[in-house]
Amino acid sequence: MEKEVLDKYKKAGSVTAEVRQEISKMLKPGLKILDLANRVDDLIEKKGAKPAFPVNISINEVAAHYTPSFGDTKEIEEGNLVKIDIGAHIDGYIGDMAFTYCSQPNHLLKASEKVLEKAIKIIKPGVSLAEIGTTIENSAKDQGVGVIVNLTGHTLDKYVFHGPPSILNVKNDLDHRFKEWDVIALEPFITETNGHVKNSGTVEIYRYLMDRPVRLMEARNILAMARDEYHSLPFAKRWLYKKFSPIKVSLALRQLGAVEALETYPVLKEVENKPIAQSEHTIIVMDKPIITTRLVE
Ligand code: CO
Repeated sequence: MEKEVLDKYKKAGSVTAEVRQEISKMLKPGLKILDLANRVDDLIEKKGAKPAFPVNISINEVAAHYTPSFGDTKEIEEGNLVKIDIGAHIDGYIGDMAFTYCSQPNHLLKASEKVLEKAIKIIKPGVSLAEIGTTIENSAKDQGVGVIVNLTGHTLDKYVFHGPPSILNVKNDLDHRFKEWDVIALEPFITETNGHVKNSGTVEIYRYLMDRPVRLMEARNILAMARDEYHSLPFAKRWLYKKFSPIKVSLALRQLGAVEALETYPVLKEVENKPIAQSEHTIIVMDKPIITTRLVE
């Protein structure tokens, strides 16, 4: 990896860590998650980075892909498990970090942090998907909790926020081995007992897939924006309201979804409504791994 690229990964990671530190002061019951999301967006830009995806603020049995809608009135409540997944990038080099906030002590939250630490400890060149999955599932079991079986970690690359292979959080016999300088994100999702997520109806996050002819002028403009301004990285529906009228946005997104010009990210929920905690860091694989998204004091 060139030094310039390494520096950009480190900078993007440290932006997410600093944003986490700053928003931690405002997290409390009664906080509107739309205000929190706007604050995250502002802080990322202020620190000289761009969002790699809209901040996910997913509460309790909602696992991921919830980002506030335009005018969202939802507030954090006492005892909620609030998963905050933040992505920032510098010229396409991404830091991806998640943590869970709860106004009360919570054993799932603690377990998710411990499981992530255990997994990070085994990261070095040559580590396999099997070793990572086994470590995560066993470490969850040791603490009397389970994992979300169908959510995984992933690799990162320039403007690629979820690259292959998927890094399973369960035992498996996949022999893929990571090399020095691979950039990976580990993100165990922890529940009482092993669980699954499924798509729910709501979509607030989209991503450019391919050029397609569409009739509505706003649809063409949004598609161009998704491609050129967001560089095929995910974006939030609410971001579009700065430039387009609400009616046109809904119409355009429907057209673009129908012709598969855009990928949609439906909100993911645990099938039995089991509450979930999540912890995530971005790691550059080496003998002494660099955890880019951890705050350096
Ligand atoms: Co991630």
